[in-house]
Amino acid sequence: MAFLFSKFQMMCCDGATGQDNADIDPVVYTSFDTKAIVKEAIKKSEEKFAIYWPRNIIVLFGPPGSGKGTVAPNIEELLSTPQLSTGDMLRAAVSQKTEVGMKAQEVMKVGGLVSDEIVIGIIRDRIKEDDCKLGFILDGFPRTLSQAKALDKLLGEEGASVTNIIALMVPDEVLEERICGRWIHKSSGRSYHVKFAPPQRMELDGSGKPIPDSMKDDTTGEALIQRPDDTSEALKKRLEGYHNETVPILEHYETEGIVKKVNANIKPSLVWDEVKSALKR
Ligand code: AP5
Repeated sequence: MAFLFSKFQMMCCDGATGQDNADIDPVVYTSFDTKAIVKEAIKKSEEKFAIYWPRNIIVLFGPPGSGKGTVAPNIEELLSTPQLSTGDMLRAAVSQKTEVGMKAQEVMKVGGLVSDEIVIGIIRDRIKEDDCKLGFILDGFPRTLSQAKALDKLLGEEGASVTNIIALMVPDEVLEERICGRWIHKSSGRSYHVKFAPPQRMELDGSGKPIPDSMKDDTTGEALIQRPDDTSEALKKRLEGYHNETVPILEHYETEGIVKKVNANIKPSLVWDEVKSALKR
């Protein structure tokens, strides 16, 4: 959109002095509504991109607890493109007790993988929505080789393909502390950690454990919860699934030169710096 803004600025500013022309000739330049013109120009440009440019499709890849959910909102903000987390969608289905939710609930709780058929169906419908017209960020999908192939086929139907895979690399032994210390705000998906990202109101008991009643979302003050699959036992199964079923996806895409591995075993702010550079062409 940057070129569009420059074009618009040329219309309103004197290129040599950078001075706003509206100050120089109010008769000419105050006759239009600046905001409406910018909005219209952005809309036109978006339509052009949606019709003629391929969509920007980013896959956030990594084991449970590697920081996909932490990084995704930053990418959303940077690129104005939505995060599609199959985990969040499935958890919403479980809460709403939908048919999909009923099927997924038990397998998720013990750290297993939900069937390919269900998750592919969810993604197939979601990427048709209007907010995905310029692209989207996939978080937690694809997770098996057959999901990857189904995604390629879906995108191939419109001449598109995955443009970028950001693989967050964290050794297994670091993940248990991250997963077992995580607390989340259910409605927004905001993620906290007792050690690495504590909520402002957190209080500890005599043994250093967080007092559940003090675990509140910084923004809304609502209670935080722990996910039923964030246990050491379920994590073992989740990691098994990751290594056996998910890692082979990297090989599948490696030959296309779109896989970028990022060290995610560093401070979150530094991880974000690395992800930002990996997103550049
Ligand atoms: P899903 O919700 O996708 O979970 P996951 O992949 O296991 O990933 P997590 O959400 O646990 O971790 P994350 O990488 O987002 O880490 P976060 O940023 O929160 O899936 C859940 C389940 O749904 C699956 O097990 C499966 O059953 C089912 N499912 C989903 N998709 C499926 C699919 N496609 N096919 C089949 N089944 C599917 O970070 C973790 C913690 O660490 C946080 O507390 C955070 O504050 C902290 N942290 C983050 N970064 C750092 C850092 N750099 N340093 C220190 N701490 C950090």
